[in-house]
Amino acid sequence: MAKTASNQMWGGRFASGPDAIMEAINASISYDQRLADQDIDGSLAHVAMLAKQGIVTAQDAEAIGQGLEQVRGEIAQGQFAFSAALEDIHMNVEARLKEIIGDPAGRLHTARSRNDQVATDFRLWVRGQCDAAIAGLEALIAALLAQAEAGADWVMPGFTHLQTAQPVTWGHHMLAYVEMFARDKSRLEDARARMNECPLGAAALAGTSFPIDRAATAQALGFDRPMGNSLDAVSDRDFALEFLSSATICAMHLSRMAEELVIWSSAQFRFVVLSDRFSTGSSIMPQKKNPDAAELIRAKIGRILGAQVALLTVMKGLPLAYSKDMQEDKEQVFDAADNLMLALAAMEGMVRDMTANQPALEAAAASGFSTATDLADWLVRVLGLPFREAHHVTGSIVAKAEAAGCDLPELPLSEMQSVHSGINDAVFEVLGVHNSVASRQSYGGTAPDQVRSQIAIWKERLE
Ligand code: ARG
Repeated sequence: MAKTASNQMWGGRFASGPDAIMEAINASISYDQRLADQDIDGSLAHVAMLAKQGIVTAQDAEAIGQGLEQVRGEIAQGQFAFSAALEDIHMNVEARLKEIIGDPAGRLHTARSRNDQVATDFRLWVRGQCDAAIAGLEALIAALLAQAEAGADWVMPGFTHLQTAQPVTWGHHMLAYVEMFARDKSRLEDARARMNECPLGAAALAGTSFPIDRAATAQALGFDRPMGNSLDAVSDRDFALEFLSSATICAMHLSRMAEELVIWSSAQFRFVVLSDRFSTGSSIMPQKKNPDAAELIRAKIGRILGAQVALLTVMKGLPLAYSKDMQEDKEQVFDAADNLMLALAAMEGMVRDMTANQPALEAAAASGFSTATDLADWLVRVLGLPFREAHHVTGSIVAKAEAAGCDLPELPLSEMQSVHSGINDAVFEVLGVHNSVASRQSYGGTAPDQVRSQIAIWKERLE
């Protein structure tokens, strides 16, 4: 059998190259080429620092810098021939650099290892995804606030157990999601702040004997500081896990909202009309308008949570410092991030475009004895009944309304008085849905005044 040539980057002690299967299991270039920009940014910061410290000459650093920019351009234009024999993005870039500038290329890897290199590249990439997700959440929150503002006093049924509970306002329901997505945003901001330390200069695991300036490379790459322990720097991926756990929680929120849109857009609810731009048709049933985007958003948590479980499982039990297992950190994070951004953008578009059906919301709000709690509260407030007794009396009145086939506001006073003689005309004031929501003035409650003041608070916060 013909012997393949040994690896040009690390093959000094090898007599032959790898088996084809070895190459197949070892190579990450098919996916880590996504880190090309970060890899080149890291190398540019590194070589500038090496020159400043007198570790490489200014002339070599200049050639390396120019060569790296040429490589960046070739990759951006799709003119770069990625090679599996060169394993990963780091060695692909360096090998091409050598073709372009010759021997000085070999000086770039001084005082560095692929271990701190990949940790730096990936951190930069994940940091960028935090920023993208934060921007996506801000846009979604703005769309929700616009909906809340338009319908701050529209009434709709509030549910528990998906059974009619009490009337709420549309604006209040939209603001509930604003709160959730704002927490998702702050989780990403926290994760971003924690991950913003630079691994570069940790070298293979122990640091380096060259007089490098880690603060300089950290600063050049926009990090707050260098990481304080070289073993930790090359061997943890908790930054990616924090991103994934924030992404998973966000995907869970998106999934819940998507589920509501699926229900609300059905012919049975008709609470909202989704725009044509965010709906699809059926190839067999001409009448159909399906909420596919909402359904897909509802499902995205599957792969995002899957990525989190996968990476946690890869990392579990690994001894310090770097192990090749950690090459398995990237693909799922890429996939999770791509799908999170897509889900955020699709949800933002749907929320922006959707039309709430105000008459249908109002009709539904008044059905299902939704103001029964208001009646019980009235019995306590006006007639002085203990709440438990008021609850019981109200239950009997609801039973009468149910038997009469009407809702509470339509039940004759005499029927109510047959349950409790003290009830008078004034009770009808609390049985209407608008009065019901307007009365819930407690902080954070559903009253339109409360909703409007929360909208104002959010607008100020997001400025
Ligand atoms: N492709 C590798 C990864 O993604 C880069 C680091 C390789 N380091 C090493 N010592 N083999 O993890």
